Amino acid sequence: MSGARGADDRPVVRRGVPEGGEERVAALYWEAFGRKIAPALNPPGKGRAFIATHLHRDRSVTALAAGRVVGVAGYRLDGRALTGGGVKDVLSAYGSCRGLPRLVLLALLERTPAAGELVMDGIAVDAAHRGRGIGSLLLREVAAVAADHGCRRVRLDVVDTNPRARALYERHGFTAHRTERTPWLRGLMGFGAVTTMHRPVTDTHADADATSGREAR
Ligand SMILES: CC(C)(COP(=O)(O)OP(=O)(O)OC[C@H]1O[C@@H](n2cnc3c(N)ncnc32)[C@H](O)[C@@H]1OP(=O)(O)O)[C@@H](O)C(=O)NCCC(=O)NCCS
Repeated sequence: MSGARGADDRPVVRRGVPEGGEERVAALYWEAFGRKIAPALNPPGKGRAFIATHLHRDRSVTALAAGRVVGVAGYRLDGRALTGGGVKDVLSAYGSCRGLPRLVLLALLERTPAAGELVMDGIAVDAAHRGRGIGSLLLREVAAVAADHGCRRVRLDVVDTNPRARALYERHGFTAHRTERTPWLRGLMGFGAVTTMHRPVTDTHADADATSGREAR
């Protein structure tokens, strides 16, 4: 697989979503988290458009291959997350009657950082590019962003149906903090428990900043 690729299309990690990359990021998010977000943002075309329209491009790190976004990690910091859109936006996109239950579902997915925390709100790599170290580069860059903002830890949630992602996080120094059982969400969103994980951030993570633009395998 990788033998067919030239050095030029090796993914490079950078901060932010490049201008014009919004729809691509929305598509990656939908592909990765559709099961979870579809009840709130369906139908898919409309949901992807909603995500693309309300993205905060500066709340992410992305991986680019041949100029195309192939990976993204979003985070919430200082009151802004990669995925945006407030009450008014949801009601105007879906109507006031249909929008209200969607707001309730979106509120379930909302995560508020504690002081000194950067909260990740999703990491997704294009299926054709997985297993080449891109997810690892994105996680390191997010830690560097956290260090640059004086955060003492990164927090994320992982669902019980995603043990491989959890294994990846553990390899990157995340440890389980608590698990919330959500059996009532299994039918609707596909998972029955959410584990919150923490990774401490030290000044050494800021050094990773110098390697921004790093290449994957
Ligand atoms: C999780 C994910 C971001 C990792 O990106 P990646 O570029 O493949 O990561 P790396 O190459 O650095 O590391 C590979 C490791 O990621 C994890 N991983 C690989 N494929 C995965 C997949 N389809 N789903 C979940 N985790 C996966 C595994 O731990 C894997 O190690 P392993 O092959 O020894 O099992 C990517 O697989 C993905 O987008 N998955 C779907 C979305 C998702 O599950 N996001 C996490 C939500 S909490």
